[in-house]
Amino acid sequence: MFAVTGASGHLGRLVIDALLSRTDPRNILALARDPAKLADLAERGVTVRAFDYSVPDSLAAALGDVDRLLLISSSEVGQRETQHRAVIDAAKAAGVGFIAYTSILHADANPLDLAVEHRGTETALQESGISYALLRNGWYNENYTIGLDGVVEHGVLIGSVGEARVAAASRKDYAEAAAIILAQEPPETNTYELAGDSGFTQAELAAAIAAASGKPVVYQDLPEADYAAALEGFGIPGPLAHILADSSAKAGKGALFDDSGTLGRLIGRPTTPIAVSVQEALQG
Ligand SMILES: NC(=O)c1ccc[n+]([C@@H]2O[C@H](COP(=O)([O-])OP(=O)(O)OC[C@H]3O[C@@H](n4cnc5c(N)ncnc54)[C@H](OP(=O)(O)O)[C@@H]3O)[C@@H](O)[C@H]2O)c1
Repeated sequence: MFAVTGASGHLGRLVIDALLSRTDPRNILALARDPAKLADLAERGVTVRAFDYSVPDSLAAALGDVDRLLLISSSEVGQRETQHRAVIDAAKAAGVGFIAYTSILHADANPLDLAVEHRGTETALQESGISYALLRNGWYNENYTIGLDGVVEHGVLIGSVGEARVAAASRKDYAEAAAIILAQEPPETNTYELAGDSGFTQAELAAAIAAASGKPVVYQDLPEADYAAALEGFGIPGPLAHILADSSAKAGKGALFDDSGTLGRLIGRPTTPIAVSVQEALQG
């Protein structure tokens, strides 16, 4: 049985789709804190169970028949290491044989504030004694396609990345890699630095948005504090705005770049160019 946590999220849904193209639905267990969100998968023969990272005592029972588990990192920043440790403890108690975990690119040395909880989770996995794989995912293309209408309307893309390159790929690319590693036996290594084939600068991203929309768009680089303030001005809560600005500024120092080509090799095709994701997002 292949189990996927966070199956109601964007990445989880895409992983389940990728697994469905590789194995019988009866071999797939989709775990979500609200199983009602997965009614369509249950109808297709996928087993669906409740799984809330914040209810530790309930987790082991849900994993009883699981051989290989994909732990998709929680979206509840600040609670994640505690939540992930609860899942790892439950997996151990339930006798799960393998855990793949969606970490962050170059987690061991990544300076982003967001990397701290990923490092803690990687340590917990290493100490668990369970066989594991670290899927160190780079940025999603989709991080740059949220709010594109506003960018097109104002003709300005803002950030703190400067002229650095970010090697992003689409969620679908990362999902396919996760499904492959979950379903293959055994993984060739246990640490995968997963990123887009070729990075792009924010000026190149602005040019891709301009080309896809037919409207002029330029990139305006801001100091980190000004970028955080601008994000707050758009209604993003302060703590999240600061995390996003921290990520942007550190991407500006190369923290989200990788040119190993590991993701493309794993999925057996080029990763999705940012221009394609931009075009898809603008087409709605
Ligand atoms: N690499 C990147 O660029 C990037 C960008 C954003 C996020 N991430 C990370 O990658 C993860 C997956 O990305 P995504 O796009 O799929 O995010 P997403 O759409 O926000 O999905 C997050 C998933 O986590 C689940 N979750 C949150 N708290 C939970 C809890 N207490 N117990 C069980 N499940 C819980 C959510 O369940 P509900 O459906 O019930 O809310 C949802 O299924 C994120 O959670 C985050 O850690 C990476």
